[in-house]
Parts: sequence; structure tokens; C-alpha cells
Amino acid sequence: MNNNELKELYNSLSIEEKIGQLFQVTGYLLDSDEVLTGPLCDIGLTEEDIKLSGSVVGLGSKGAESLTRIQKKHIERHPKGIPLIFMMDIIHGYRTIYPMPLAMGATFNPELMRECAEMAAVEGAASGVHATFSPMVDLVRDIRWGRVLESTGEDVYLNCVMARSMVEGYQGTNIAGKGTLAACVKHFAAYGAAEGGRDYNSVELSERTLRDFYLPAYKAAIDAGCKLVMTAFNTVDGIPSTANKKLMRNILRTEMGFNNTVISDFGAISELVMHGLAENGAEAARLSLEAGCDIDMMSGSYSRYIKELIEKGEVSEELLEESVMRVLQLKNELGLFENPYKGADVEREKEICLCERHKQIALRAAAESFVLLKNEDSLLPLDKAKKIAFIGPYIDRRELLSSWAITGETEDVSTILEEHAAYSSEIKAGFAKGCPILPGGTVMDGFTALEPLTATEGEVEEYKAEAVELAKNSDIAVLFIGEHYLQSGEAASRSNPSIPEIQRELFEAIYRVNKNIVVVLFSGRPLVLDGLEEKAGAILNVWMPGTMGAKAIWKVLLGEMEPSGRLPMSFPVNVGQIPVHYDELRTGRPWMPDEKERFQSKYLDVRNAPLYSFGYGLGYTEFEISKVSLSDAELTAEGA
Ligand code: GLC
Repeated sequence: MNNNELKELYNSLSIEEKIGQLFQVTGYLLDSDEVLTGPLCDIGLTEEDIKLSGSVVGLGSKGAESLTRIQKKHIERHPKGIPLIFMMDIIHGYRTIYPMPLAMGATFNPELMRECAEMAAVEGAASGVHATFSPMVDLVRDIRWGRVLESTGEDVYLNCVMARSMVEGYQGTNIAGKGTLAACVKHFAAYGAAEGGRDYNSVELSERTLRDFYLPAYKAAIDAGCKLVMTAFNTVDGIPSTANKKLMRNILRTEMGFNNTVISDFGAISELVMHGLAENGAEAARLSLEAGCDIDMMSGSYSRYIKELIEKGEVSEELLEESVMRVLQLKNELGLFENPYKGADVEREKEICLCERHKQIALRAAAESFVLLKNEDSLLPLDKAKKIAFIGPYIDRRELLSSWAITGETEDVSTILEEHAAYSSEIKAGFAKGCPILPGGTVMDGFTALEPLTATEGEVEEYKAEAVELAKNSDIAVLFIGEHYLQSGEAASRSNPSIPEIQRELFEAIYRVNKNIVVVLFSGRPLVLDGLEEKAGAILNVWMPGTMGAKAIWKVLLGEMEPSGRLPMSFPVNVGQIPVHYDELRTGRPWMPDEKERFQSKYLDVRNAPLYSFGYGLGYTEFEISKVSLSDAELTAEGA
């Protein structure tokens, strides 16, 4: 459709139909004939609202068949036949799940990042998705925040490079194509700086810090052509991002030149009341629209109040037109008026999702994301001639995907135990669970139901005794331990982000009988290791490695693949060091450990440097760096 036709379409819409384009509902709302009940009525959504809605946040329904059915039904019901945009959190893969974004940051490989994003787009588009709520580029310096898993780390430049790669991978050269997705950079802005690492908390930054560290990666995504921006839940300068005109109008629209669609985060508009900024829902809707937030994700504020605000003259028709035209423009760029089903193709979905080529990409990404933190006496690669005990709750777990891999399937994931089959003739191996991942009775919530944690104390003791006996009679003990996947991600901040106590006790029990311990560490964030790093002989940090994680771990443990990851985010010595990052200012009294000077910027009880800094990581290869020389006496920001 050309711009004139788009404008004609706009002019043909009733006020309700215009407003309908500005709110987004969840998939299952459109995919059932049930009458609205429960919480959705609480946010004021009506059947009429659903009929007129403009887009979907993909919770509930997925797959080419169901999204095609939803789109067909919606177009038939909509008075002007305007198609939906299907948006979804495809954060690190659609069905073939590659390592979580922080792990992808550890690869320092933008080409691989682009390749993985392209793979996710091809699978997501074939499954009927049009846009993804990715890349998340929030710079992170606080490992207590559960969402560090979604970021590519603490470094501005790495985040910019990875943001660009993800946008290019998702969008390709034609977002109307059958194998591409519109990208949505998030969360604007500075969500990673939530005070205390507590999710949704306030953000207090100087203008310099905001501009020098936290804004550049959003700009990189926008300069790469990103089609959407999502607002953050947090305040900046005391004003919630979603209604923060300085952030959204002056910086995003004017300075960064972003003229595409802005979408709120889930319910963020109505939360302006809880923030204390808006007196009521109507004011929340007005403030958000005035700040240039085009789509209301599931708060019901726009559908409920915009019409009345316009009729009262409190919101201008021009403001409404500005936002509605941006949404219609996005649908037009996606080609949805010509083909509302875009890439949805049941046969293609079956053929492409989890195909061998994609699994190989995920395998390579996993191996490149692993960071070898310690390797004393070359314990790794494992010596196949040795008797080796493989121990830990992760030896038989399929939950190697992150809490944000909501479109992945754990049944697609092989376990460490299963992948051993390929080596069973070569390795004298014994296996023991050692302990449950978390104590029986632990309750957590997350996007998916948590498997029951029911181990009794007696069972735990049995597990441990069996593992200790095995380790005592082995040359090397490899411990597969770490966080439960729901201990990181959204609303999963931890005041003490360490290895679960029950697993630490297992480690100590094994250490008492065998000092040759290799730790394979699973986590959604850098962890505080509480001295484990001094006792373990080797530590391989594997993050949440994705669908091919177990296979990649075996290949790296046995030296078939090199662990080439380097840390994208520092591991602090203890929680007291947080935030700790490599690019901090020197201060006027930098710590000089050799000088016995009291008045320096230091702690009395711990060093300043993190346990493992940004960029740290070992490899198997021995190499020597010599004859280092600079290409020039003066280096500029543009390079050489
Ligand atoms: C969540 C997240 C956001 C996600 C959105 C849709 O609350 O904050 O990152 O894209 O809702 O699921």
C-alpha cells in the first residue's frame, strides 16, 4: 500500500477502530471462543476490544497453524479487515535454542550472533510470527538482577556490535520477507541499572552515565534499522520511562531520529498509577500517548480511556493519528495488507525448525560461549585413560534453556548422561546425581510450571553417599552444578547470587575425598563462587547453553572443541563488590596495593578487582605473545 492509500485507510476508520490499532492482546485471547472472564475483565478489555485489537503478544498460542487460524478469524471479524501483527519473545532462538544472550556476548563473535538471530527469524517466521521482542541491549553491571541473562553484558561497544548483529539477523534486507522478523530493541531505557539489582526498581543515573554507557546500544539497534522500541518498566530521573517525554520524545525521537513504533512493556501504561505518576488510568493513557508510546501492551488503558480523552479534548486527534499511522506503516512494511500470513507455513515450519543445519549452528554457538575460568594441571581436556566420576543434578537435566526460551521445548534437549553414549567405549565413567538441584519443597514461579522438587532429607543423603563413594574410587570428579533455570530471568533477582547451598554441600563432600574436581557451571548470570574457585581444579562456565548444550559440553570437556568464550560480564569476589565493572573511573585515590597508604579507594576486607574480569577466559591452546608493537603513536576513536 502506498502512503496515500494508508492515509485513506486511516480516514476510513471509526475512532474505536483507530484506537484498536494501539493495543495489544495475548494470543490465547484470540484463539478461543470463551467469553472473557477473570483478570482480563479487570483491565477492562471487552469482546469488542478484542475484535478491534491491532497486535498480539505471543503468549498462549504459537505455530503456523494456530496463528494462521487466528489471523483469518480476526480479519473476518474486523470491520475493515485490518490484520494483526504477531509479536513474540524470541530472545535466543525460536525452536532451536542457542545460548542465552549473555552467553552469546561471551563469544565476542558478531557474525555468529547475526547467524543465530537469522536462524531464529527463519524458524519464527515460518511459524507465523512477524516481530520479536529482541534485542534486549540493557547494559548490566549487577549480577543480582535476574535479567542479565538477556543482555550481552557490561561493555558498551560489545553491546552495540551485538545489537547491530541481532537486528541485521532478524530483519535481513526485507522485513516483508517470509524468513524475517521485525526487531524490537528493549528496554528503553537503562533497565539494567535498577537499584540494588532488584527487578523493576528505580534507576538513578547521571546524564553522563546514561548517555555514555546505557544509551549507545539502543542507538546502534536503531541505526541498524530496528522497527520497534519497547519502553522499560523503570523510572529514569524519577519518571517512568513509558511516560518520560525527555527520554521518549527528546532523546529517542528527536536525537536518535527514531520514527517507527514504540510499544510499552507488559502492562507498563497502567502501572503509571502504581508509580504514583498518574492519578488514574485515563491520565496514564494520556501521559503515555503524549510521550509517544504507540502500542499499549495488555494494560487496557488505551482501549478504555483514549476515546473519552479525545471527546473531552484532553488528547488531540493529531496525537492519535501520529501513533495509529506508525502502526499501520509497520503493518505495511511487513507486507501484511498484501499477505497477512507473511511467512506462516506449516510444512516449512516442520522442515526448518530444529533442522540439522540449525542444530550445528547452536552447537557451535554453545561451544564458543563457554568460558574456561580455571584449568590447573591441565585437568581439561579430560584424560580418557583416567577413571572419571560424572556427578551432579545437571547430569540428567533437560532444562538447559533459559527462563526466557519460552518457545523452546525441553524435550528437544539431550542430557549429559544421554550424550555420554557417544563416548561410552572410550571413557571409564561412573555417574551419580549427588543431590537434587534445589531442596525438596522449594517453591518458585516462572513462565512454566516448575518440576516438583520433592527430595526428602533421606534421599538427599543417599544421593550424596553414592556420589562420594564414586568420587573416592575415581581419578577425577566432574561436577555438573549451578542455578536452576528459573533462578534467573524476569522477576528473579537474587540478593546472594551463588551456587545453591545443597549443591555446595555436595561439592565440599566430594572435595573431601577427591581433590581433582572439574566444575561445569550452569547459570543465568555470573555467580559469587564463595571460595569454590580455590578448591576446584578446573571450572568451565557454560551459562544456559541451549538445545545443543550437552553435546557441546562433552566436545569441550574432551578437547574436540575449544572453549573460546571470554567473560562479557565480571564475576565479583562477593556481593559487597557489586557493581564491579572494568570501565570504572580511577578516582583521585586509586588503590595501590603495594603502597601502605590508608587513604585509598579500597575495601578493608576484599580487593577491588573482581574474581574474574570482563574479557577473562582461558583456552586449551598454549600460545606466546611477543614483539607487540602499536601500528601508530596515536590512535583515534575511528581507529588507527
Ligand atoms: C515482559 C518483559 C519484556 C517482554 C514482554 C512481553 O514483562 O519485560 O521483555 O518482551 O513482557 O512478553
